[in-house]
Amino acid sequence: MHIYINDKKFDVNENDTIIQVADRNDIHIPRFCYHKRLSIVASCRMCLVDIENMKYPQPACSTVVKEGMRVNTNNRSAEEAQKNTMEFLLINHPLDCPVCDQAGECELQDVSLEHGDYKSAYKELKRTVIDKNIGELVNTEMTRCIHCSRCVRFGEEVAGIKELGMTGRGEDTKIETFINEGLSSQLSGNVIDLCPVGALNNSLYKYSARTWDLKQKFSISSNDCLGSNIFYHTYNDEIKRCVPKEDDEINLSWLSDNDRFGYEGIKSEERILHPLIRHNENLEKTNFDSISEKFIEYLEKYSSRSCAIMSAQSSCEEMFLFQDFLRNKNVKKIDHRSKECDFRYQKHYPIIPSFDIKLVDIQSLDNIMIVGANISKEFPILSIYFRDAHKNNSTNIFSLSTYEFEENFPLEKSDILNSQELENYFTNTNIQSGFNLDKSKKNLILIGPAISYLSNYSNILNNFSEYAKSINANLALLGDQANTSGAWAMGILPHRLPGGVSIDGQENSYELLSDKDDLLIIYNLEPEYDFSDDNKIIDRLKDSKVNIFFSSYMTESIKKYADIVFPLSTQVESKGSYLNTNKKLQHYNKIINPLGESREGADILLGLCNTIDKDYTHDSIREKIREILADINVSNNYVRIKNLKKISTTNSLEKIIIRNPNSSNPTLRRCNSIIKTHDNDDYFSLPLDKSVSSNDKIIFNEKNNKFKLTIKQKAHSKPVNAVLVKIGGTHKQKIGAYSTEVDL
Ligand code: SF4
Ligand code: FES
Repeated sequence: MHIYINDKKFDVNENDTIIQVADRNDIHIPRFCYHKRLSIVASCRMCLVDIENMKYPQPACSTVVKEGMRVNTNNRSAEEAQKNTMEFLLINHPLDCPVCDQAGECELQDVSLEHGDYKSAYKELKRTVIDKNIGELVNTEMTRCIHCSRCVRFGEEVAGIKELGMTGRGEDTKIETFINEGLSSQLSGNVIDLCPVGALNNSLYKYSARTWDLKQKFSISSNDCLGSNIFYHTYNDEIKRCVPKEDDEINLSWLSDNDRFGYEGIKSEERILHPLIRHNENLEKTNFDSISEKFIEYLEKYSSRSCAIMSAQSSCEEMFLFQDFLRNKNVKKIDHRSKECDFRYQKHYPIIPSFDIKLVDIQSLDNIMIVGANISKEFPILSIYFRDAHKNNSTNIFSLSTYEFEENFPLEKSDILNSQELENYFTNTNIQSGFNLDKSKKNLILIGPAISYLSNYSNILNNFSEYAKSINANLALLGDQANTSGAWAMGILPHRLPGGVSIDGQENSYELLSDKDDLLIIYNLEPEYDFSDDNKIIDRLKDSKVNIFFSSYMTESIKKYADIVFPLSTQVESKGSYLNTNKKLQHYNKIINPLGESREGADILLGLCNTIDKDYTHDSIREKIREILADINVSNNYVRIKNLKKISTTNSLEKIIIRNPNSSNPTLRRCNSIIKTHDNDDYFSLPLDKSVSSNDKIIFNEKNNKFKLTIKQKAHSKPVNAVLVKIGGTHKQKIGAYSTEVDL
């Protein structure tokens, strides 16, 4: 089939609209309400084009092609129609371009210049609209709104939460929130990009720069394992804002709020700006040479009794160098799983745990079973794929989790279970209630990172793997951090080298911390927030002879127990690469220079490697990583373990910490706007039969520790025999291990 646009012939598909054909062939048609990833409403009339044998111009966004159709986008009739629409849209739009953040990238400004007229017949007063407070992240100037409804459709169709709506008619039409609340979707910032004018603005960027002064630099998200593609916009070596880079395999046209606003924390007052060394009671400024020398001295003294724990937010380059340097120095206890406490699965785990199928193939699945993940909160971009799968393919989505939450896509069925019930879900008929996925269908079982915090993680993994195998389902393992897949591939493990080569070493981070090692090395992790048992790690810091920290931020425990601190630059101040959950290696660039004397982790580690005569460079490491990954072949993610013992349970309550995706790394947990918007509901919840009135004093007994919890109390009916604890990234209360038994 073919049509003609401006007398040129184009091949087209049967259901194409004129605007789709024009966009594919770089023919400009002005538009406001049309967006390629939203439904078509054809309300703004900006895209009117002339079609042969049609009496009036027609909207290109909603007119479907017909064989031999002849379209003209720029003849007199089309231009006249576009000019009239433009005049109409400008009736109420204020002439405040000089003070509008959208100026320079405003679709209305551009289209007005190209298709509008310099004069208007309208002489009356323009209307004004009172602004609404819709939260910390999105700032409004609603007088500028042209009612294109992109923001409304985004909420309904993509984010899955109807937060913004259109009220009134004609002159009185308004965009507002339904119940005068702020936006709560983890995708809310996307309305800023969608708004063609300056009605919905980025609060962090407000009045801080002009768009034409900004430099655009490419990067990769450091906040979840999907690896969204992003552009940072900088001015004078300062990040002004972050926007999505289109990527049809990952984040499409969207970004999660964590990715968009997550750089806010880099300016925290807690940033460590100098190398530090302990003199008597205090950490004092020094230089890199002194601390490097001292570090090597300590390693030589204690290496065989050292343990090193590294964040899985580190780049593949840092990971390779870290383990290479330390193994060379005879440090064998290396790990990245600081939040886990059951490691019996480790020998059977895939060399690269991954999502197993491409995100774009989610649409073709018949059934998805999510185990222990609140997808719309923890992985907002993934939730878009799940919504589409349900909408376009009627995919059934099931959820098994340890606490109750909402998803932005419909769930066929959901169950709330404690860790033992999860483990026994397919064997105990009292618990299981009718899952019987047809093995001839396309099925996926997805294990969320919060499951790895449980004390019977291995048993759960084994049982769900057996079930997945029995129904021919793919098993997806979602990583806890941006580069969890990379940490497995690069050998940040006690039992594997880079590439998955097995070595002797049964220890794991939990056991490592049980030993009284003499030297602890902690890389980009904060003892207060990033360990399965913050009491245990702090006890270990007290007991060890020397503690070496590589950190971007100062915390109480670092201040108290560090002997040497290497000041790390943050991810946006470094270059490197991440292996995402689809096993795609993606490189990111340095966006701004490191603050103070902080240095890129890879540079510090390259310097340390030089001392052992390894003359690596950034390029040679990148090449090495490519070679390592090319040699890895993982056929599936099943983790089947023979003769696995059950974990014995006591009569105590199980404590389950609710995974907090807004606190998954040190920079993110210092983003005040995100915390105020998405993470302001700290609570702990008791089973209904154990509930207490809020006046009662609750003492939480946990092994040798006692906690008095003062945060909001809730009560739940499920899961039984478990207390749920949800605390934000900045909450000062210490509540101990991720999964442990407690008494009240
Ligand atoms: S606020 Fe912006 S995106 Fe929403 S309807 Fe108005 S102009 Fe369109
Ligand atoms: S873009 Fe076609 S009517 Fe709005």
